[in-house]
Amino acid sequence: MPVITCIDDLKRLHKKRAPKMFYDYAESGSWTEQTFRENTSDFEQIRLRQRVAVDMSNRTTKTQMAGQDVAMPVVLAPVGLTGMQYADGEIKAAKAAEKFGVPFTLSTMSICSIEDVADNVSQPFWFQLYTMNDDAFTKQLIDRAKAAGCSTLVITLDLQTLGQRHKDLKNGLSAPPKLTAKSIADLATRWRWGLGMLGTKRRMFGNIVGHVDGIKDPADLAAWTGDRFDLTLDWEKVAKIRDWWGGKVILKGILDVEDAKKAAELGVDAIVVSNHGGRQLDGALSSIRMLRPIVAAVGDKVEVHLDSGIRTGQDILKAIAMGAKGVMIGRAYIYGLGAMGEEGVTKALEVLHKEMDVSMALCGHRDINNVDENILLVPEDFEGRWA
Ligand code: GLV
Repeated sequence: MPVITCIDDLKRLHKKRAPKMFYDYAESGSWTEQTFRENTSDFEQIRLRQRVAVDMSNRTTKTQMAGQDVAMPVVLAPVGLTGMQYADGEIKAAKAAEKFGVPFTLSTMSICSIEDVADNVSQPFWFQLYTMNDDAFTKQLIDRAKAAGCSTLVITLDLQTLGQRHKDLKNGLSAPPKLTAKSIADLATRWRWGLGMLGTKRRMFGNIVGHVDGIKDPADLAAWTGDRFDLTLDWEKVAKIRDWWGGKVILKGILDVEDAKKAAELGVDAIVVSNHGGRQLDGALSSIRMLRPIVAAVGDKVEVHLDSGIRTGQDILKAIAMGAKGVMIGRAYIYGLGAMGEEGVTKALEVLHKEMDVSMALCGHRDINNVDENILLVPEDFEGRWA
């Protein structure tokens, strides 16, 4: 058993154990991948202030996100095709999150269905909605999430149409994988993955297949999004969806101050500063660069979360110090899942927690709720001057 000490260790194992097309799907950004790269490299520009001779006993990372108690300010982000990284992946990740005490968000484009996940966990999870061009299907998804007891609806706003990820086209990404000479040669080397997949019935988009007809190729994410996602989605529609749901709502994919103000005006429970992990608009600024301007504009009106680029507990600490109430992690837990299933997700959460907790202590704090910008050293031109 390899010794896992950091998220990168899980990433290496994920790459070795999951089929190439699914590892590549997770590890891609759109087009040149500039935004994907900068999401992480911009975190590295921010430094932490070492403080000494401060009592660091009795520390806590407990807080609340969108009114929910969390063991640390982290939510598992919605990630498409998670059940292709490891058999029954969404169920495994949801179980690990529940045991750790952080929320799990199920993607519309998951392999395990809403009902499947609900049957296997005991706490309510969050559901992420992609808006469809067919209101009846959008409403049906909302009703299914309600019936399954989901506590929060996360509406993704930055993917009405899919940003191109070159590797997915070259690999012929599909769920389940289409059997070609190339994919068979790859799958033959991933025996762990194959055994797991043989043992489950969950190999297609569980929220879609069997719930809607007339899709050209239900296995093809790009075809599905092209056929069915709602190109006309606007703020009026967002308000309508919020009303259809009638519960807690988080808007994900806000990267601009003007959009943050519109979101705050709607009166939602939180917004997520995000560029979809660099998978949509290539050339957009990193999420961490946009965090402070957005917090300055709307932080007193709406809770602000951040995703895109979190790979360490130090990154989480930096985002909190810059005004986020919490973060979403995508790849950081998907590496763990692809490496070792539920155990790997737990490991990812433990790694991040330890890094965050010890770094917080070394910055002179005992309670994550008291961490502020004083712990940071931020380059003067960090946000940049853009005309
Ligand atoms: C969809 O959620 C994607 O980013 O692939």
